[in-house]
Amino acid sequence: MIEDVKIAPSILSADIANLARDLDAISSADFVHVDVMDGHFVPNLTFGPNVVKAAKANSDLPADVHLMITNPDETAEEYARAGADIVTFHWEAATHAHRVVMGIHEAGAKAGISLNPATPASVLEDIISDLDLVLVMSVNPGFGGQKFIPNTLRKLRQVRALAAERGVSPLVEVDGGVGAANAAQIVEAGASVLVAGSAVYGSEDRAAAISQIRDAGRQGLTRRA
Ligand code: DX5
Ligand code: ZN
Repeated sequence: MIEDVKIAPSILSADIANLARDLDAISSADFVHVDVMDGHFVPNLTFGPNVVKAAKANSDLPADVHLMITNPDETAEEYARAGADIVTFHWEAATHAHRVVMGIHEAGAKAGISLNPATPASVLEDIISDLDLVLVMSVNPGFGGQKFIPNTLRKLRQVRALAAERGVSPLVEVDGGVGAANAAQIVEAGASVLVAGSAVYGSEDRAAAISQIRDAGRQGLTRRA
């Protein structure tokens, strides 16, 4: 298998007072997804670089850090220095997206750009070749437990087509409202990294939830043209 489905549980839905325990519960996943929210780009306020450090200290999984902050130009590199393996910022928030990507790379991490539901895939035309990851938001960012927006599937196909046209293959990640019920169609449309907050942490057996989402996603991989 050239590409496999990867699961990135979001600790936004974890019990932050028991973070070590809740990280341990997802050790069968592929990434730990850390949702950084600043109370400005999105109404919610969550974690900073210290939680990235804590995640790295208490888990063997690579840290997939999703910055929902207004000033990635100023602070994205700090998350790479805190130990993030992937730092993803929002296209809508960056003034000089290319410079931010280069800064993340220089600080030693992989770089991703995220698109809000209303942002077209075409904004990536002149940057996709520099990216390690494209994160397509399937809800409006800010909160866990929202409903998947169906137009995301169309955007995933567009992102994949653009990557193919440029001859590059960044990871394509989807975030929001993802679970075992829709994982197959999401992967079929072009995603290979599935973020899941409530679908994993809302289940009693987190390892079982991870493998159910992964198995469902793999069905989509076999259906992909
Ligand atoms: C939303 C966050 C997501 C969120 C997903 O702004 O970026 O990562 O935790 O939560 P679920 O899977 O519950 O939709
Ligand atoms: Zn996220």
